[in-house]
Amino acid sequence: MATPFPSPQGFPTTRLRRLRAQDWSRRLVAEHLLTVDDLIWPIFVTDGETAGQEVASMPGVVRRDVDGAVKAAEEAAKLGIPALALFPQTDPDLKDPIGSYALDAQNLVCRAVRAIKAEKLPVGLICDVALDPYTSHGHDGVLREGVIVNDESVTLLVRQALVLAEAGADVVAPSDMMDGRIGAIRRGLDDSGFQDVMICAYAAKYASAFYGPFRDAVGSASNLGQGDKRTYQMSPANTNEALREVAFDLAEGADMVMVKPGMPYLDIVRRVKDEFGAPTFAYQVSGEYAMLKGAALNGWLDGTKVMMESLLAFKRAGADAILTYFAPEAAKLLKGL
Ligand code: PBG
Repeated sequence: MATPFPSPQGFPTTRLRRLRAQDWSRRLVAEHLLTVDDLIWPIFVTDGETAGQEVASMPGVVRRDVDGAVKAAEEAAKLGIPALALFPQTDPDLKDPIGSYALDAQNLVCRAVRAIKAEKLPVGLICDVALDPYTSHGHDGVLREGVIVNDESVTLLVRQALVLAEAGADVVAPSDMMDGRIGAIRRGLDDSGFQDVMICAYAAKYASAFYGPFRDAVGSASNLGQGDKRTYQMSPANTNEALREVAFDLAEGADMVMVKPGMPYLDIVRRVKDEFGAPTFAYQVSGEYAMLKGAALNGWLDGTKVMMESLLAFKRAGADAILTYFAPEAAKLLKGL
């Protein structure tokens, strides 16, 4: 494609500032737009005493019991937010080395999903498929002699996805980064009559320090300790590898693909969108929220403005939807509330 620069008729014939001079003309030529339809709201659910408590490293984000999760869904419906993503804080006594509680049809997430679904709200429910909220070591898969074993983990993840589908999840979202799990989950869902349950693949998920506040919120940080997830999550050094991950996940049946974290990885969002043209989501993760909120609360940044600017940046990079803890706040602003 020929580059349009430099313009054949440059300055002073062309003055790009003319279009920027008025609000109406700035609005007319805006290339990208953020709407409430672009937002997915991640919420933390709990069974315990932490219900109603704010996550220390995420000011403004509270953990909710099942009733609170239902209220969040009602708020999402009222604001027009299309979907919620649910993350459980599991009672430490229920964790074990293989994350058995993930397969319990009465577990916290399943109960929250059933309670929300009973309300028949126009809100989609997205549920993570990964074992880390349930394992005593905090890893997303099964740990054997220091190794996260792939295929055995995938077997459990398929069962977890089925439990979630059975509870009423509209979308299962494998966030574990095992190889081959999308195909296995797709087959498992189809074989059990869940052809219509969607898969949102955390396709390009990086081994990132920006997940820190999330791990505090769900209580997996202490389980993981000094461990890291670099044997399954991607290296922040790599781009081409992200495209291979996305290609496999789409070939295996993913309905949408996700890039995570968000802001430091907008180059990946752009490449994925350009290369595949598939529904592409980006996750503005807990650490990104913490940075912006923390600076805003200190008076160092204008919180509202950086929130909206950061969300628009996702649209500019090619994201179709954004998972963001700012979802309700941004939605209110977009609706003029
Ligand atoms: C679990 C999972 C994580 C996040 C979403 N699902 C944490 C991790 O992989 O350690 C992070 C979300 C966030 O930081 O907001 N597999």
